[in-house]
Amino acid sequence: MKLLKATNRNISLAAKLLKTNGLVAFPTETVYGLGANGLSAIAVAKIFEAKERPIFNPLILHVSSIEMLNSVADVNNSKIEKLITKFWPGPLTLVLPKKNIVPELVTAGLETVAVRMPNNKTALDLIEKLGKPIAAPSANLFGQLSPTKAIHVKQQLGNRIDLILDGGDCSVGVESTIVNILAEENLLLRPGGIAKEEIELEIGELIENNKSSTPNSPGQLKIHYAPTVPTYFFDEEKIKAQSNKKNGGLFFQDSKFDDYFSYVKILSTSGNLNEAASNLFSSLHYLENKNLDMIFVEPIELKGLGIAIMDRLTKAVNKYL
Ligand code: TXA
Ligand code: MG
Repeated sequence: MKLLKATNRNISLAAKLLKTNGLVAFPTETVYGLGANGLSAIAVAKIFEAKERPIFNPLILHVSSIEMLNSVADVNNSKIEKLITKFWPGPLTLVLPKKNIVPELVTAGLETVAVRMPNNKTALDLIEKLGKPIAAPSANLFGQLSPTKAIHVKQQLGNRIDLILDGGDCSVGVESTIVNILAEENLLLRPGGIAKEEIELEIGELIENNKSSTPNSPGQLKIHYAPTVPTYFFDEEKIKAQSNKKNGGLFFQDSKFDDYFSYVKILSTSGNLNEAASNLFSSLHYLENKNLDMIFVEPIELKGLGIAIMDRLTKAVNKYL
């Protein structure tokens, strides 16, 4: 495996590797992706192998143009066009009817395909140079923390992939928001980098997936994004009872009970949710690497990007219930 700066030359090298069905990790504005040629079933199969990801969990195709979008999916209603105009390139993934050239492995056999246009120059250049959509999940081992720095990818997947393009830190820091816009209702399949409220301003109410009777999102698991260290929601009694252990704390704006923690991370001292999201995974990676017995995380208010942050924290905590 090579870890190279995302220069023009190295992006060309990465595109060459993708053309021969290799695996390349690359930066996006949300998290690092583990990319393969999205139209090659052989290449896509390697993603599942490297991540140890179950094959019932479909992938997102990353495109660099509307033309490329139209080659893999049907944009069949005006609400979708509105979202594309407003939010692309950006952290919004659309679930759309798929065209035949999309391999079944990408969609886990579904009739729909998830597509987004990332807002990151390296990612867009790489897709452009490949000339085809790149299939990419987050570049982490299945169930573990998502990577927001090249070094995070190296730690988890270093010996399993061909190249990591280092494009610095991811600016958004949580995965894209995934929606399925149907004629009769708008479904929110995963909260993410674009707040629900912002999308609702464009197209009206978004219904959370678990409150709808229609399609669901395979791969949206109750346990996910978890540090390898037992992680719990902040609870004063519990922390005091564990004060003989080496614990870490993750707080939103101010730390509390400093005496009980060996290491503390704060997501945003100014209380800004965007900043908090961009620091979420890197803070958890930091704590995960400190040889701690436990990590305690503070719950965050469920509004704006707070919804996406709490989704990730809840799925981490669920692993250790
Ligand atoms: O920000 C992101 O979205 C990152 C970067 C790399 O772009 N990617 C990412 O991919 O988070 P991944 O594989 O970790 O999550 C993709 C999720 C799947 O778990 C599944 O829930 C949903 O997208 N998905 C994919 N195809 C779908 C489909 N046809 N219908 C419903 N949900 C789908
Ligand atoms: Mg993921």
